[in-house]
Amino acid sequence: MRVLVLASQKGGSGKSTIAASIAVAAWQDGERVVVVDMDPQASLAEWGKLRETGGLVFRAVAPGALDKWIMDTRKVPAVSLVIIDTAGVFGAEVDAALRHADLCLVPVRPSAFDLRAAGPTVERLRLFNRPFAFVLNGTNPASHARTADAVAALEVGGAVAPPIADRTDFRDSVASGMGVTEINPVGKAAAEINALWAYVKERMSRT
Ligand SMILES: Nc1ncnc2c1ncn2[C@@H]1O[C@H](COP(=O)(O)OP(=O)(O)O)[C@@H](O)[C@H]1O
Ligand SMILES: [Mg+2]
Repeated sequence: MRVLVLASQKGGSGKSTIAASIAVAAWQDGERVVVVDMDPQASLAEWGKLRETGGLVFRAVAPGALDKWIMDTRKVPAVSLVIIDTAGVFGAEVDAALRHADLCLVPVRPSAFDLRAAGPTVERLRLFNRPFAFVLNGTNPASHARTADAVAALEVGGAVAPPIADRTDFRDSVASGMGVTEINPVGKAAAEINALWAYVKERMSRT
């Protein structure tokens, strides 16, 4: 069993949006996925309630219980991937998730403010010595040069996963309880999420 954590000390960076669609992409790829929403705002859990398609298992884990829950779940052969969404403000709950991460994805918007705000998130991950990758989220699909600049800026701080552009499919996905690969399997958002999932899968297979 692998644990994928979405974390960044910045609200609106795309943690819940990416968690939702990557959970679906992983399930479609044959993973047995359990989704855990540790953010009190519960965006991902709300998204799960809208879901009619099934495929994903949602678990509510009480604050303070995550450590034990992960250790117990690691023994359950029926679960191959746990995806944990976290709050935008770090605290004991986020730390518990980070400590167990086989990989942590850190979504970052392509703005100077957001690129700078990634610093404290990375310090936290370094403290726990867990593998992580930035994922540039909400890039302008028409401006490849800007995306390349932002990727270069992030590469100074760590590994960079394939980027995700700003696309309507992601907005429709959070509104409908579906992943972008379900809404529009041949769309660009689906291609981006599948590329991100392939990256995540490869990185996690190394640990
Ligand atoms: N790649 C994207 N394309 C379009 N809209 C996006 C994208 N990523 C996030 N959003 C939108 O941005 C908002 C914030 O994203 P969210 O996933 O809730 O961030 P976080 O969980 O980090 O606070 C949401 O309304 C979401 O629909
Ligand atoms: Mg969120």
